[in-house]
Amino acid sequence: MATPVAELHMHIEGSLEPEQIYRLAERNRMDLPYKDIDDLKSRYEFTDLQSFLDLYFANMAVLRTAEDFADLTRAYFRRAAAAGVAHAEFFFNPQAHVVRGVPLTEVLDGIMDAVASSEREFGLSSAAIAAILRDQPVKDAEEIFSEIIRLQAPIVGLGLDSAEVGNPPSLFEDVFARARAEGLHVVAHAGEEGPPEYIWQALDILGAERIDHGVRALEDPALIERLVDEEIPLTVCPLSNVRLRVFDSLSDHPLRSMLEMGLIVTVNSDDPAYFGGYVDDNFTELGRALGLTEAERDTLARNSIKASFASDARKAELLRR
Ligand code: ADE
Ligand code: ZN
Repeated sequence: MATPVAELHMHIEGSLEPEQIYRLAERNRMDLPYKDIDDLKSRYEFTDLQSFLDLYFANMAVLRTAEDFADLTRAYFRRAAAAGVAHAEFFFNPQAHVVRGVPLTEVLDGIMDAVASSEREFGLSSAAIAAILRDQPVKDAEEIFSEIIRLQAPIVGLGLDSAEVGNPPSLFEDVFARARAEGLHVVAHAGEEGPPEYIWQALDILGAERIDHGVRALEDPALIERLVDEEIPLTVCPLSNVRLRVFDSLSDHPLRSMLEMGLIVTVNSDDPAYFGGYVDDNFTELGRALGLTEAERDTLARNSIKASFASDARKAELLRR
């Protein structure tokens, strides 16, 4: 790819590859509930978001120490750099680790150690976004956010993920207001499986600067107009959408129409270890399925840089390349 890419929608726990699950289980002297690695790999068939989340949360059990989180994050950076990613903004799910008895400091120390040296080690700038589990009690979100702030964790933003339907953004108004007051960026998963109404709420109630997924915006012309007028970026994840059955196949993916409508679309991998590929695979496979032109690929790459939370100087540097 000519223009470098920023990856803006990737869950670090979703980059945990099967081989790494086995290595970490051995290092932490844990038994896995699978016969062998092939048995584990045979479970990577999903019918919807929840069927994926069940495996995603189960496999996180092997992440226990700061070293585990640092290794996981570095493995993603290495693969992302090979994919042409020059800047990565990735999610992590602090509640999912704390609930298992892993201290938040282990999670943060490991991830932030890798972030601090990503430019030197891998040639990519990076930033972490703490994502709130929307299917857990609001009180838990408030508590984990307070802890993150108390520890002065160098995160760049707050996000919202996990099971969408029945868990509207409006529930989390207060914690997102606190995040904005702390000067953090704010993003939210909305309109992946959930209705367009959740995208309106993410914008109007949470103050989301980007919408993660957002593909169901296409059902609501007034919402499309809003997203276009206000230039709200959508972090779209084509392989994820097919693996979680949001669309039947990549050829059915509406990404080109979204570009033609003037939406600020970016391409991302979401959970690359689970959905069959990293960001380069998403570009290649979607490009092949839709016959994307070089100009369209370039627009997607430039959109990703512009939509990132990198400094203006870093964006200008990347856009010049
Ligand atoms: N957590 C990890 N991947 C996710 C996705 N695609 N949607 C919601 N929550 C997630
Ligand atoms: Zn996601």
